[in-house]
Amino acid sequence: MNNPIYVSGGSKGGVGKSINTMGLIHTLRSADQEVLLIESDTSNPDVWKLYKDEIKTELIDLDDANGWIDLVNICDMNPSLNVVINTAARNNRGVTAYGETLNNTLQDLNRNLITLWVINRQRDSLELLKEYMDALPNSVVHVVRNGYYGEERKFELYNESKIRRSVEDKGGKSLTFPELADRVSDDLYSKRFSIDRAMKELPLGNRAELTRWLSEVRKVLGEVIDG
Ligand SMILES: Nc1ncnc2c1ncn2[C@@H]1O[C@H](COP(=O)(O)OP(=O)(O)OP(=O)(O)O)[C@@H](O)[C@H]1O
Ligand SMILES: [Mg+2]
Repeated sequence: MNNPIYVSGGSKGGVGKSINTMGLIHTLRSADQEVLLIESDTSNPDVWKLYKDEIKTELIDLDDANGWIDLVNICDMNPSLNVVINTAARNNRGVTAYGETLNNTLQDLNRNLITLWVINRQRDSLELLKEYMDALPNSVVHVVRNGYYGEERKFELYNESKIRRSVEDKGGKSLTFPELADRVSDDLYSKRFSIDRAMKELPLGNRAELTRWLSEVRKVLGEVIDG
């Protein structure tokens, strides 16, 4: 089996798709896995800006049929790389229209598709998830409750939902992603620091908070990476 394709999804704006992508890249690299980042948020390619000088990256518009063709070809040409896709808000439209292109080539690519679906506490996160799972039935889907939006028990809508059962029946996990202190996440976004760069350049206290958060991130996301 070649290395997996990971999707950091959620479709809703602002739920934490980008920060989850950063956490995932960090977790994979800490496990000595090489990463190819596909940034599909072409109007606000925040993760791409942070990582373009550090790892192999591609900007691909997944609202368009051509983007899905490029995605499959790039996955095919780089079998040894773990592909991490950062998605844009409202990405469900593209997934519903063209997701089949990827879904039906996974076998030829010899790769697993692993989705981390990031949610806040609102209902639409769950409705969009159902749509996504219908469009990409061959993906393993894990749900990532973003702890930035409250403690695990406050995600009652998801915790007690039917969709949770269907996620877990298919082998998916329900995870809780840790919250990073706002001033440190602001450092990453506003200074455009990748995590590695932040670990070199931030003041000691900020680095200590980042170190604490990263160790939580590795514990949580380490459960869903291959290798
Ligand atoms: N776990 C977290 N810890 C700290 N800050 C967070 C966390 N999750 C989200 N945030 C903050 O919330 C904001 C939105 O997060 P992020 O950019 O990751 O969301 P997104 O889903 O990628 O948004 P968009 O749809 O605009 O791409 C960011 O400013 C980020 O700092
Ligand atoms: Mg984003």
